[in-house]
Amino acid sequence: MLGNKITDILNIKYPIIQGGMGNISDPELAAAISNAGGLGTIGVGTLSALEAEKKIKIMMKHTTKACCVNIPISVNPETKQIVEAIIRQKVPVVSLSAGNPSIIIPQLKKNNRKVICVSATVKQAKKAEEAGADIIVCEGYEAAGINALNESTTMTLIPQISKNVSIPVVAAGGIADGKGMAAAFSLGASGIQMGTRFVATKEASFHKAYKQAIIDSTDESTVIVGREFNKIRRIIKGTYSEKLLDLENREGSITEFIEKTDEVYHKIGAVDGDLVNGFINGGQIAGFIDDCPSVAHLMERMMKEAKDALNGSKEMLKEEARHG
Ligand SMILES: Cc1cc2nc3c(=O)[nH]c(=O)nc-3n(C[C@H](O)[C@H](O)[C@H](O)COP(=O)(O)O)c2cc1C
Repeated sequence: MLGNKITDILNIKYPIIQGGMGNISDPELAAAISNAGGLGTIGVGTLSALEAEKKIKIMMKHTTKACCVNIPISVNPETKQIVEAIIRQKVPVVSLSAGNPSIIIPQLKKNNRKVICVSATVKQAKKAEEAGADIIVCEGYEAAGINALNESTTMTLIPQISKNVSIPVVAAGGIADGKGMAAAFSLGASGIQMGTRFVATKEASFHKAYKQAIIDSTDESTVIVGREFNKIRRIIKGTYSEKLLDLENREGSITEFIEKTDEVYHKIGAVDGDLVNGFINGGQIAGFIDDCPSVAHLMERMMKEAKDALNGSKEMLKEEARHG
C-alpha cells in the first residue's frame, strides 16, 4: 500500500477522500467508503444543525473508522451549532469549504480534530494554512457542483498550491481512476478527493437515473451555469440546465437563480430521479465513468492503477535516457 502524509494524518488506508455532497449526502455511503479504507464524508449543505446531527449519528453508527463532515460555511447559517454537534459526536475530521474557515478552525483544533480546507486559489490555501488547517484540498473547476469564479483547473492548481503551502495537498476535480490519481501525485498532491465517481457506486443511495446519467455521459455532457450571476456550478446537461441557462440569457434575476438552484431542486434530481424538474451535479470526468462498482472494488482498483501508472512512467523515462 502507498503509505503517505495524508493516510498518516487522517488515519486511513488509502489516500482517497470522498467530497461533501450537500444536503443529499448519504451517511451509509460515507460509512462504506470509510470501512473500505478511504475517508467517507457527509456534507451538511443547508441542513439545520438538528438534521445534520441525525446524519452524523447514522454515519458514526455504521463505521468505527475515520470519517468526516463537510461544512460549506457561507451557505449554512447554523455552522456554529453544527461544529458543536461534530465535537459532541466525536467526528475525527472536518472539511470546510465555500467560506472563511479561520473563525472555525481554532475551536476544532482545540478539540483535536483534523481540519481539511477546500481552496481554489493560492491565496485561500495560504490563509487556511495560517489559520491552522492540516490539509488543503485544491479543487479545479472540472469538479461537480459549486465552483470558484476564477475557474482554475486542477492541473494548474496542484503545483501552484503545493509550491505555496507546507501542509499536504489533496487534488479534487476531474479524477475518477488510478491514472488520474498518479497524475495528481506527479504534480505534488499526496491524496485525491472525488465526488462524481462516488455517485456511480453500488452503495450510493442516489436515484438510478442519476447514476445512469453519469454512466451515459460523454466529454461534452456537463455545463457551467450561473456565470451571469457570479455563482457558478457544474451540472449534467439536460432539460433543467437549459432552464437555468435560459434564465441567464433572458436576464432573469439572481434571486430567481438562487431559488432554482436551491438544494430542494438538487434532491428532486439526484434522489427522486426527476431530471426535468431538478438538477444533478456532475464533473467533467463523468464522460470517463462507465460502470457502477462497489466502493471497495473501486478504491482497490484505483490503487493498483496508480501503482501501474507510476511504474509505467518510470519505464518511459528509462527509454528516453537510452535513446537521448
Ligand atoms: C452531488 C455532489 C454534491 C456536492 N456538494 C458539495 C458540497 O456540499 N460541499 C463541497 O465542498 N463540495 C461539494 N461537491 C464537490 C465534491 O465534494 C468534490 O470536491 C468534487 O466532486 C470533486 O470533483 P469531481 O466531481 O470531478 O470528482 C459536490 C459534488 C457532488 C457530485
